[in-house]
Amino acid sequence: MSMLVDSLLKKIQGRQARVGVIGLGYVGLPLAVEFARCGFITTGIDVDPRKVDAINSGRSYIPDVADEEVSALRKAGRLTATTDFAALSELDTVNICVPTPLRKTKDPDMSFVVAAADQVAAYLHAGMLVILESTTYPGTTEEVLRTRFESGSLRAGRDFFLAFSPERVDPGNPTFNTRNVPKVVGGSTLNCQTVAAALYGAALEKVIPVSSTRVAEMVKLLENTFRAVNIGLVNELALMCDRLGIDVWEVIDAARTKPFGFMAFYPGPGLGGHCIPIDPFYLSWKAKEHGFESRFIELAGHVNATMPHYVVEKIAEALNGHRKALNGSSVLIVGLSYKRDVDDIRESPSMDIYKSLKKKNHQVLAVEPHLAAESELQTVSLDEATTKADLLVYLVAHKVFKGKKVPANKKVLDFCRAGPLAP
Ligand SMILES: NC(=O)c1ccc[n+]([C@@H]2O[C@H](COP(=O)([O-])OP(=O)(O)OC[C@H]3O[C@@H](n4cnc5c(N)ncnc54)[C@H](O)[C@@H]3O)[C@@H](O)[C@H]2O)c1
Repeated sequence: MSMLVDSLLKKIQGRQARVGVIGLGYVGLPLAVEFARCGFITTGIDVDPRKVDAINSGRSYIPDVADEEVSALRKAGRLTATTDFAALSELDTVNICVPTPLRKTKDPDMSFVVAAADQVAAYLHAGMLVILESTTYPGTTEEVLRTRFESGSLRAGRDFFLAFSPERVDPGNPTFNTRNVPKVVGGSTLNCQTVAAALYGAALEKVIPVSSTRVAEMVKLLENTFRAVNIGLVNELALMCDRLGIDVWEVIDAARTKPFGFMAFYPGPGLGGHCIPIDPFYLSWKAKEHGFESRFIELAGHVNATMPHYVVEKIAEALNGHRKALNGSSVLIVGLSYKRDVDDIRESPSMDIYKSLKKKNHQVLAVEPHLAAESELQTVSLDEATTKADLLVYLVAHKVFKGKKVPANKKVLDFCRAGPLAP
């Protein structure tokens, strides 16, 4: 084993390694907190000064990370944040957790990864470990990061270490978090693999090594494509059941009693968030480059994307059934985030539905209890809005809606089994 590997392993084992995280969002902040919690002096780097100030003042802006945790780590001198990338020159390891959105054309937008990689390249030094965690197409670590990092004399596995490890965090999940979800990791070389696995092994419960960065990148895309395709299937089944006059929820509840060979997925108003609607298209884009057409991904994307239109149609139909028009009726959207119990409205189908209704009718109200009071979106309280609304449309099954009684004279459409219809 080379001296650099040996030295980094010793620093990791003794918690003397200076670790860093670039991109302190839903993924990066919880990861930085885990590193700091297990004893590493951790530096977070973000281009957003508001996030940096919040951390340095001991505050969290991510619902899954408590303020007390950030302030305790700050007081212990183990967590600090900065907008200055020069901090990289002092770090032994750095994890990159920046966004990987899609362009309007559904091509990967690699600008955040490229910007972060350029910053790391400027401060890359002998013995440093760099791990990419952003979800991306297979080949990114080697093609985008390694080529930049090897433009001088440094070589991966010999002078510095490079790995990919997909983040699998599920915001709002009370059981699984950054620490207890097994961490898949693939290195550019065996040395890279060894030091990256050691870093995660120090902070997280279980590490799953795989043979390359490309395999690790593909693991994440398989997981999220699996969800996108199965959600697409069940959404199509929901449309079919609606046409056939069958209750799709009753069908799924009965099917899931089968103890093997079936996994329940549930229909909804569409796909949202920064992962499931986006990640599969990173894969199909890369596959296309190799002349391969990913039909499941395209089909699931198509079905899931039609769901918000279906919801708007059902709203118009429901009002029509009561001799009312969409224009002029008061419609209440219950839930704007992309899934239950989170505050994230990125790619949220509820937002698409809300905006589409707003274009047709100015009397559209929205309730989203997880959005901060200072949010630009004007939302109202459920009780206040319920009295005003002709029709309540449940789109997100937040726990706080569960069992909420709705007056008998109110019409309800429920696309997610929330509120009065919650099981
Ligand atoms: N949110 C999830 O549930 C989730 C789960 C698994 C994987 N991921 C993946 O993790 C990655 C990050 O997602 P997220 O949800 O944490 O995003 P996010 O938007 O919450 O956080 C990203 C952070 O990176 C910062 N940033 C952007 N460009 C930067 C740069 N050049 N240098 C430093 N900081 C920069 C932003 O200011 C932001 O604070 C994405 O690839 C995403 O697909 C997300």
